Amino acid sequence: MKKTRNETKTRKTTASNGRSSNAQHRTGSRQISSADGRQTGSAGSRQTDASTSRQANAGEEDNPRANNRSTGRSRQTSSAKQDSERQGSFEGDSPLEKFFLDQLQDIYYAEKKILQSLPKMQSAATTEELKEAFEDHLHQTQRHVRRLEKVFETIDQNAEGKKCEAIEGIAREVESIINETEEGTMTRDAALIIAAQKVEHYEIATYGGLVQLAITMQLHDAADLLDKTLVEEEDTDAHLTEIAENSINLRAEHEGSIRPTHSSPIE
Ligand SMILES: [Fe+2]
Ligand SMILES: [Fe+2]
Repeated sequence: MKKTRNETKTRKTTASNGRSSNAQHRTGSRQISSADGRQTGSAGSRQTDASTSRQANAGEEDNPRANNRSTGRSRQTSSAKQDSERQGSFEGDSPLEKFFLDQLQDIYYAEKKILQSLPKMQSAATTEELKEAFEDHLHQTQRHVRRLEKVFETIDQNAEGKKCEAIEGIAREVESIINETEEGTMTRDAALIIAAQKVEHYEIATYGGLVQLAITMQLHDAADLLDKTLVEEEDTDAHLTEIAENSINLRAEHEGSIRPTHSSPIE
């Protein structure tokens, strides 16, 4: 089932205002993806799927602590449950805490790198629809950076990035796509969408894992902030799939073969 841009906008608004509908959307999207083999494939990691089903539980959407209940902890004794709902403290000296902080720094660096790439992708895109999607995501990414800074605050750590080789690699791939596809073609847009979805999937895997680690360490404030961004990344990924499938891929198919503007070997 395809959605119009307006329908998608409505869904995006819902995503930022209420997690219930969005969780239902994400569940539906994933089911369609697996049934029809749609472009986005299995967007999320297993951890993200757990997050989705977790949020789909009625009445638990706005309570970050509800996360614990639907991940198998509902069978706990009441004292254990009270303990699991207590806000944990972050000392930063255990191996898991160090890894959590490392991954926060990784995604903080990645978000800032994405802020640099999106304007290039926007100006390189052929269709107004894709340009608009990249512009929307630029604003969203600015929010993701600010939200990560709040996460650092919740654990009393300075917000700083650590070089993320994965996002550097995808950014180089974006530059190759722009160099190797003809300006003004649908093929360029189809390729840019795939590159953008690689970024989204990296973010979804990282945020999905961080949400689960935060829940495990009872860092509920951090978990809630990270989960908000996870929802938005999944929504962006689904929106890119819709743009590709609604017209760009089919129109690209009729363009014939790509005529590179310059040749550079791709491994
Ligand atoms: Fe992001
Ligand atoms: Fe993103």
